[in-house]
This record gives sequence, structure tokens and C-alpha cells, in this order.
Amino acid sequence: MKVLITGGTGYIGSHTVVELIDNKNDLIILDNLSNSSVDVLDGIKKITGKKPYFIKLDLTDTKATNDFFDNNTDIEAIIHFAAYKAVNESVENPLMYYKNNLISLMNILTNMNKHDIRNLVFSSSCTVYGQPDKNNLPVTENSPIKKANSPYGNTKQISEDIIIDTLSANKNLKAIFLRYFNPIGAHKSSFIGELPLGVPNNLVPFITQTAIGIRKQLNVFGGDYNTPDGTAIRDYINVVDLAKAHVIAINRLINNKNKSQYEIFNLGTGKGVSVLEAIKAFEKSTKVKLNYKIVDRRPGDIEQVWADTSYANSELGWKAETSLEDTMLSAWNWEKYIRNKK
Ligand code: WQD
Repeated sequence: MKVLITGGTGYIGSHTVVELIDNKNDLIILDNLSNSSVDVLDGIKKITGKKPYFIKLDLTDTKATNDFFDNNTDIEAIIHFAAYKAVNESVENPLMYYKNNLISLMNILTNMNKHDIRNLVFSSSCTVYGQPDKNNLPVTENSPIKKANSPYGNTKQISEDIIIDTLSANKNLKAIFLRYFNPIGAHKSSFIGELPLGVPNNLVPFITQTAIGIRKQLNVFGGDYNTPDGTAIRDYINVVDLAKAHVIAINRLINNKNKSQYEIFNLGTGKGVSVLEAIKAFEKSTKVKLNYKIVDRRPGDIEQVWADTSYANSELGWKAETSLEDTMLSAWNWEKYIRNKK
């Protein structure tokens, strides 16, 4: 039986594919390559010795998606990564986010019902918490779901609701929501990493592209937040540590080890890091001085969030192990690798 990875050539998807191959899971990757390159499959092959079975497919194309599932009836579980995920881009183009992220999910769920595919790991996000109250940090899985600060975060809140309602209508289905904090870094081999097409939205690829000279200067969005150094705080988690949690989660469902029909886990490090602290960690680990300037806040950004990860630590037996500095170094090594390769 196979595990389907939607968005499997993407940043987190590709790192999860590597860990799943090492765990001997049999995979199919679906991706529309809107924010990734098919070359990622070669990187996966260099790391694992195996090139996973890949089909280019846009999951918002209902007919093509239904045809795929009609022709691939040996899928027992799905890890659903495929979604757009840039907070600020969603503010500028909300309908693109609602259409892509929600229609693709509903097409997946429709086919899970139709083909009795019972296991779903859903790529959720800390953005569902909105801006937690100061006295509610770090956030646990039971922290209030506040109004999302961006259409992206709202698509994740709505997606969780759609899955919960689908499960209540079909008791055979079970799901795990993995609420990621800020995934950063790259595989230690440098054969895969975060490869945003165009100008990066996220902090760390912008840092590494500035450090290598592709970008002139890093803009630090906001120096007047109510935080110790005035810059926004996030929980930056190593992408390989994050990927390993997916292997545990999908096998938990396949082996019926889940304790309720759906379970929710925060995947972070448990530590809040400001933008300036992230920059300093990069400079310290790489010995590269970064050119940056503090500018106005970015619309859609929240001030501060970081995770209480005790539930994932105890229930999944999983913990983020990699230090911020080692993770920044992995991102830098990846940036140098892809620029020399090109
Ligand atoms: C981080 C901080 C920016 C770029 C991400 C993902 C989202 C979700 C949550 C998984 C913010 C600042 C950024 C720059 C900057 N993860 N920044 N200059 O917005 O927290 O969202 O994590 O679902 O999918 O996108 O991440 O990296 O864009 O920003 O100062 O050039 O860095 O203001 O404070 P964000 P980010």
C-alpha cells in the first residue's frame, strides 16, 4: 500500500519524502510545480538512492484529481502539503489562496471518502492561533483559535474545520493536524532545501540570498514591536526535524495508534527568536556579516508566537533537536550549493 504526498516536491514535502524513503514507506508524489522544481527529485535520489514516483497534477483540477484516484487505488494514507503559504502574498492575493488551498483540500477529501482512504496528515500552521494574548504564550494545542491575521492563516483555520466536519460525517476517516511554526534550513547534504521561485517571502531564504549577493539588503519588517529588541518573534524549527514528525504521524495513523479520530500537534522548538536574534545566529554560524535595515512592519504579520511542544514531545516521542545556528548554517550551505550548481 502507498502513501500519497501532495506537494511532495515542495520545501517541507521534499524533506519529508527523504525521511519516508529512509523509513521504507512506498510513495507517490503529486505536485503542480507552482512553487518548486522537478529537479528536487534528483536531489532526493542523491540522498536516498531512490527517485520517487512523481505525477504533475494540479489538485484544484477536480476531473484530473478524480481520474488520478480512480487509477491509483492502492493508496492507504495521504500527507497533504500542497498549498500556498506566504502570509504577505495572501494579503495581496486572497482569492488565489482561498481557491488553491481549499479546493485542493476538498478534492482530496472527496476522494478519501470515495476510495475509503482512511488516513490523513494535514499540513497546518501556527498561523491558526492569530496573535495569541501575551499571557497565552507559548501556545498549546488548546490555545484559543483567534481571528487569523492573514488569508493564508484563515485558509488553514477553514481547512481544519472542513476536515473535522468531513470526519464527523465519515467515522472511518482519521487525521492528524501538524501545526508548523516557522520551518527553516536545509538537508545536511545540501541536495535539497528551500528554493522559493522569485523574490523570497520568508526570512531565511532572504537572509541567505542577501548574504550571497543576490539581494542587496535584508529589510527587517518592524523594529517597534512590543518585544525585547523591537523585532517580531517566531519559533524557527529545522525542516528535517519537522519532516521526521510526519513519518511518526503517518505511521501512527496507519498502525491505528491515534487516540482520537483527529489529533493536533504543535511542531516547533518551544523557543521564541526575534528577527535580530535570527540574523545574529546566521552571522555567528556562517561568519558572514549581513547587510540589513529596519523598515516598516509588513501587513499580515503578527508580533510574536512560539510553541509549547510538550504534547508532541510526550505523545509522539518527537522533539526538535537541531540548534538555530546549525540550522542557519544548513541554509547557508544550501544557498552556496545551488548558486555554484547554476
Ligand atoms: C518571519 C519573520 C517577518 C522576511 C511563516 C510561513 C507560514 C507559516 C508560519 C507554516 C516575520 C520577518 C521576513 C523579510 C523580515 N509556516 N521578515 N524580512 O510570516 O512567520 O510565516 O511561518 O505554515 O507558512 O510563511 O514567516 O519568514 O515570512 O517571517 O523581517 O524579508 O521575519 O516580518 O516577523 P511568517 P516569514
